[in-house]
Amino acid sequence: MLETQDGKDKLADALVGRFADNAEKVRNASHAIVFTTRKDIPDTHLQEIFEKERADGRFADPEIQKGWEAGASNFVEIQTENYGGDVLHWLEKNTYLVVGATMMAAASLGVDATPLEGFDRTTVDAAFDLTDTDYTTTLLLVLGYPDEARVSRQPVSRLDAEKIFTHM
Ligand SMILES: Cc1cc2nc3c(=O)[nH]c(=O)nc-3n(C[C@H](O)[C@H](O)[C@H](O)COP(=O)(O)O)c2cc1C
Repeated sequence: MLETQDGKDKLADALVGRFADNAEKVRNASHAIVFTTRKDIPDTHLQEIFEKERADGRFADPEIQKGWEAGASNFVEIQTENYGGDVLHWLEKNTYLVVGATMMAAASLGVDATPLEGFDRTTVDAAFDLTDTDYTTTLLLVLGYPDEARVSRQPVSRLDAEKIFTHM
């Protein structure tokens, strides 16, 4: 979460070349969020989560916790296989779910949110010392109030509902 000007400038400085247009959106935002994703899920990571769940008493019955741990480990294997072993593909979809929830939360507070895919992952990772770590940048989100002078007055354009939804 980038909430200081220094933090936002650090990200903006990493938006260069064909992504330079996005720099001012980050600099002028109230807050910017760099959503990152773990590149894989080693067993050590799962064990860390399970230990936390046990400490938090997520399941009152230890047998249920045990079953959950076996199921969750199996689910990771299934999902990894579903994506031909490309676990990052699956994990990044989970990150996008979090981004969606964050955008809805912002909207409910009257705050505008714009997702930015216009960035070079290598450059942003380097700016935040993520290169060669377990994490990589997935998506940027800028938050704030609109500049009234620049708010789009054009109609929103969407494909017709009949084209998008199949009702049965
Ligand atoms: C996945 C995704 C990536 C986007 N990346 C950028 C971006 O890099 N820079 C930008 O200014 N807007 C970006 N946008 C925002 C769009 O340009 C647009 O403002 C937004 O989708 C709202 O469109 P609407 O007026 O049709 O609702 C992105 C939107 C989405 C959904």
